[in-house]
Amino acid sequence: RRQIIIDTDPGQDDAVAILLALAASDEIEVLGLTCVAGNVPLALTARNARMICELAGRSDLPVCAGCDRPIGRDLVTAEHVHGQSGLDGPDLPAPRMPLHPAHAVDFLIDTLRSAAPGTVTLVALGPLTNLATAFTRAPDVVGRVREIVLMGGAHSALGNVTPVAEFNIHVDPTAADIVLRAGVPLVMAPLDVTHKALVTPSRNEALRALGTPVGRAVADLTGFFERYNPARYGAEGGPLHDPCTIAWLLRPDLFASRAVNVTVETQSDLTLGMTVMDWWGVTGRTPNATVLHDIDPGGFFDLLTERLATL
Ligand code: BDR
Ligand code: CA
Repeated sequence: RRQIIIDTDPGQDDAVAILLALAASDEIEVLGLTCVAGNVPLALTARNARMICELAGRSDLPVCAGCDRPIGRDLVTAEHVHGQSGLDGPDLPAPRMPLHPAHAVDFLIDTLRSAAPGTVTLVALGPLTNLATAFTRAPDVVGRVREIVLMGGAHSALGNVTPVAEFNIHVDPTAADIVLRAGVPLVMAPLDVTHKALVTPSRNEALRALGTPVGRAVADLTGFFERYNPARYGAEGGPLHDPCTIAWLLRPDLFASRAVNVTVETQSDLTLGMTVMDWWGVTGRTPNATVLHDIDPGGFFDLLTERLATL
């Protein structure tokens, strides 16, 4: 079983990813959640992460609050997508479980130092501020990470914050640059693949039809998320970004991928946060990421629905 830490800024699609990871699984074990500012400010992401753990019956999990702003920049949030709470849609009770006392960056460092080298996978669903800060503060942990699986970036798909930039990378391009250069095995789920994981009305209904509190909450979460920008995503349904990372850990056979070199623009006002993917190897730079570019969407939603049924 892969041991994972989920670094996250919930966010409806983050919440669905967390629930998928917490569902019964022979493949993965969640060691803890580290929260970062992103979709909404840190106080809300740290609150929302605990609400989701409680919904899954996992109030025992460590949930740590981390960085409250990107490296050297002001925070950009996405309430227009996720609602003021970051988790608008379902009516979930306020969390009762406390935050873990450690800062997320310390939790990452300490967990990586105490686990056997090469055993802990980091799953990143928000801006990469916590990961980059841990790597900068404790360079010894970098080589101990098994791999990073992240949702972020855009290649041929249009950016969703600027014409060329995806939200997670755009919010903290400096952090993304540090992570992309770290030399850790990296799997990226950019918009190119997540825009193929569309929550159609029938997929949403299948989740609701589970008839459980988790099924209803996930249908409400994805239903709210859908109402953001139907003009952009079409009548079929909106993309379910973050769960693609967990789905890859559970069923890599559902995806097509390619090893490419990825760099991020950290300077230009015009293209800040753009992920430059050398698809054809024209630069001769060594590939530093496995980029997911295609998905079996039916298989993905079947997996999601089956696994959530166990919660
Ligand atoms: C990413 O941005 C956030 O709004 C979502 O949670 C996802 O992680 C998609 O660009
Ligand atoms: Ca997210």
